[in-house]
Amino acid sequence: MKTSDDVLRKGLFILLLTVPLASQASVVDEQLVSYQANGAGPFSAQKGEQLWQQKVVSEKDGRTRSCTTCHGNDLRSTGKHAKTGKTIEPLSPAVNAESLSSAKKIRKWFKRNCKWTWGRECTPQEKGDLLSFIRNQ
Ligand code: HEC
Repeated sequence: MKTSDDVLRKGLFILLLTVPLASQASVVDEQLVSYQANGAGPFSAQKGEQLWQQKVVSEKDGRTRSCTTCHGNDLRSTGKHAKTGKTIEPLSPAVNAESLSSAKKIRKWFKRNCKWTWGRECTPQEKGDLLSFIRNQ
């Protein structure tokens, strides 16, 4: 027979499981921990800002590219896609509740954007520095 304590414990457990855990901050923290597991860290928002501004001449078209090419300098404002001209929602979590809320999305866009902008994938150290910068904007 179940005691009321058991029932209470079970109820609490289910409640904890269903509380949404994936707030923006915890998603970013999880990413940072996974980069650390790959030997990166500590992370610097200042270094992230430098990376954000870093200009690389593309081997494809000889033009200068940086993260700001599409996202702009002010992360609280919308960006504009350099190729398609489409509006990009602000990356700053302070003004965009969707931004940095999904680990899958972060992984996908880091991969795509680093390759397009710098012609290579970003290292775990660079991703950690960049996220530390972006999350504070
Ligand atoms: C060619 C245009 C382009 C460039 C250059 C670019 N991005 Fe992006 N980025 C995008 C688009 C489009 C999205 C998707 C936005 C959305 O889904 O709302 C995105 C999304 C992201 C996201 C995911 C945000 C989220 O919703 O969680 C991150 C992080 C990011 N970019 C970082 C970078 C970094 C770092 C650089 C420079 C290395 C960079 N981007 C350069 C177009 C670009």
